[in-house]
Amino acid sequence: MWGGRFSGKPAELMQAINVSIGFDRRLADQDLAGSRAHAGMLLKQGVISSEDAAAILGGLDTIAGEIAAGTFPFRDEFEDIHMNVEARLRELIGPAAGRLHTARSRNDQVALDFRMWVRDACDRTTAQIRALQTALLAKAEAHADAVMPGFTHLQPAQPVTFGHHLMAYVEMFGRDASRFVDARTRMNESPLGAAALAGSPFPIDRHMTAGTLGFDRPTANSLDSVADRDFALESLAAASVCAIHLSRLAEEIVIWMTPQFGFIRLSDAFTTGSSIMPQKKNPDAAELVRAKVGRLLGSFTQLSVVMKGLPLTYSKDMQEDKVPTFEAFDALELSLLAMAGMVADLEPDRERMAAAAGAGYSTATDLADWLVRTLNMPFRDAHHVTGAAVKRAEELGVGLPDLPLADLQALDPRITAAIYDVLTPEASVASRVSYGGTAPDQVRAQIKRWKEALA
Ligand code: ARG
Repeated sequence: MWGGRFSGKPAELMQAINVSIGFDRRLADQDLAGSRAHAGMLLKQGVISSEDAAAILGGLDTIAGEIAAGTFPFRDEFEDIHMNVEARLRELIGPAAGRLHTARSRNDQVALDFRMWVRDACDRTTAQIRALQTALLAKAEAHADAVMPGFTHLQPAQPVTFGHHLMAYVEMFGRDASRFVDARTRMNESPLGAAALAGSPFPIDRHMTAGTLGFDRPTANSLDSVADRDFALESLAAASVCAIHLSRLAEEIVIWMTPQFGFIRLSDAFTTGSSIMPQKKNPDAAELVRAKVGRLLGSFTQLSVVMKGLPLTYSKDMQEDKVPTFEAFDALELSLLAMAGMVADLEPDRERMAAAAGAGYSTATDLADWLVRTLNMPFRDAHHVTGAAVKRAEELGVGLPDLPLADLQALDPRITAAIYDVLTPEASVASRVSYGGTAPDQVRAQIKRWKEALA
């Protein structure tokens, strides 16, 4: 492509380090779309003739067919996807192929292709997050009133419902989706026409190509257009946060699956056995989702380090933007699909969760709140009295609902049998009616709100 200036061939090692077709072939669709839009614009602006434009567009269609059929020759000697397409176009239509690159550089071309790839990836990811939220909503609705222990420090804290717990993840994934939507909005400007870095002397119409390719507008600074990879960095940041959320849910699934917890069962579809221990049913999919976050954070770090300290504008360093981004989205998309599958598959053991919900004196706060509300005790005093009640229950080896009234009255004679009404996990969750609280009606209200939002 640059034979004029060169008389020697590149060293084999030069080719080995330079070649990117092995991975940037994934930009083929975007590259063809960009070339079509560019050729159509060159035609309309009178930069190329209608015969040449027709030949170019026809050749691009043939190439699209070859790529779809798996017959397109991806060749290392043409380095990257852009030059592979152009070289093939020349073979197909002859010298007219050389006019496609008028008013364009690989610098704006790759910036465009990669941006469109990331834009598509954001759209796919957003849809997958929505599907995961939908799976969570269905499970939450089925178990909006199933009591389970709520934890802090992974110690039983206060009873909550399983539906409420799942809805926490619906909120988290909702923020994730909105981050991808935000990033998409910001990235939706077309760099095509920035050419190498300074713009073009040809009468190009950048607004036209931007519109054809679904962008809101062209980018406003030609240097920034070819030097910017914020769209990938932002998307990888959003992807990393999403992977962190997935890893937290995955970890809970692993914990809940242990016989010691026994809160949920996963079917054979999402578990594996052991080659030596016949009794095993392992949550491998959850463990792998938990681990994928490493790749995501690695990708974000990789691209950040590539971009850090790069002078304007394009440097070949930026060719290293693609692999981490492709790998990150591959891992995230697979994780989202696997997680949606697991969520739909999992069945909670409501009885075990209910039994655990009452363990660990989980309604101690309810007892203290009763003292405050009924006896007008200052909360700090109520906290103290309740601590003594827990201590007494521990001595007797009973839970708070089974602590004899005489023992409670020994702590404060004004306590009546009415206090037992608040000491069961069911009563505890039913009382948490504050907005966003775990009372089943509150949980159902949030499920309804989300269902409407996702509809
Ligand atoms: N394969 C290159 C990349 O991915 C395309 C841009 C090449 N530009 C250049 N000036 N060498 O970055």
